[in-house]
Amino acid sequence: MNQPIVLGIESTCDETAAAIVQGRTLLSNVVASSMNEHARYGGVIPEIASRAHAEAFVPCVRQALADAGLELSDVDAIAVSAGPGLAGCLAVGVSGAKALAWAAHKPIYGINHVIGHIAVTQLQFGAFPPDTLALIVSGGHTSLLHVEDVARHIDVVGTTLDDAAGECFDKVARLLGFPYPGGPHIDRHAQQGDPHAIRVPQGLTQGKAGREHPYDFSFSGVKTAVARWIEEQQAEGTAIPVDDVCASLADSVASVLARKAMHGCEQYGSKTLIVGGGFSANSQLRAKLLEEGERCGVQVRIPQIKLCTDNGAMVAMLGVNLVEAGVKPSDPDFPIDSAMPLTTISV
Ligand code: KG4
Ligand code: ZN
Repeated sequence: MNQPIVLGIESTCDETAAAIVQGRTLLSNVVASSMNEHARYGGVIPEIASRAHAEAFVPCVRQALADAGLELSDVDAIAVSAGPGLAGCLAVGVSGAKALAWAAHKPIYGINHVIGHIAVTQLQFGAFPPDTLALIVSGGHTSLLHVEDVARHIDVVGTTLDDAAGECFDKVARLLGFPYPGGPHIDRHAQQGDPHAIRVPQGLTQGKAGREHPYDFSFSGVKTAVARWIEEQQAEGTAIPVDDVCASLADSVASVLARKAMHGCEQYGSKTLIVGGGFSANSQLRAKLLEEGERCGVQVRIPQIKLCTDNGAMVAMLGVNLVEAGVKPSDPDFPIDSAMPLTTISV
């Protein structure tokens, strides 16, 4: 099998997605989002998301096959996100994918959604170099990984001890009155603000805590500091300089992520940093990583914006890696794992 063709299916949260990848080429990429149905609740409502997946599953898969000009019988394997994510949402995608695999006699891979977020960079930059470092910044994860082989072996180098960067943004966004998800609103306002207007702490970078946790992150202090500052201004009746708050928060978070990632690359002798996850769409982080990468001689591989947030291409791409590596497909009755660890690549 020269260039495996894989159908990737995604349903971990509020996006139902299907895509087809052949080798390193994206043949189709269909995403249906239920985000608007959750906005008025200020966060994703699992039951609403699960129902939306049940409605969108068949149309998404049909469209992905049609856009690629293929039939289900043409694909070599099916890959589906088996975790981490919302249990009810995962169940819809995994059940649907199992049914397709059974009906079409195709091997199926239950894959780790978060690893898919870094795998997707191969569509733009080609195969991973061996022993590379990766920075995962998704809604629920902020971690540095050592990727020995994306299909077989990944170790966690560091992780957040409390909130993920995306969560920290979403929580501050809520205080500022932005609708869910707040990350993109902070990004937009930060572009007009002064990043040094407000002093925002940089968690686990100084002193003993910094030395003991060189690759770990902590963002709850950042969130609390910004929240306190906003409350103080409100108590004094002062108008909140929203752009400056956003810019200062974004600068602090991007600086810590970039600095620790580069330090990790140096320590592990990696000349490449793979970046992935919804938060990698953040423009302040993208700029800071590219700037620091240039300074440290590290090539930074960040997905194009449309491949940063949840999609099927990331799932299909990791599926191709598994097929190419000859990894055994998942058992037909494999379970979902809503808390799948980052070291599990496929089940
Ligand atoms: O990876 P993802 O799509 O979902 C998970 O798998 O968790 O990440 C969603 C996160 C949310 O916290 C959202 O606010 C954040 O990514 N996000 C952003 C931006 N776009 C998405 N945060 C900051 N700036 C952005 N431009
Ligand atoms: Zn995600």
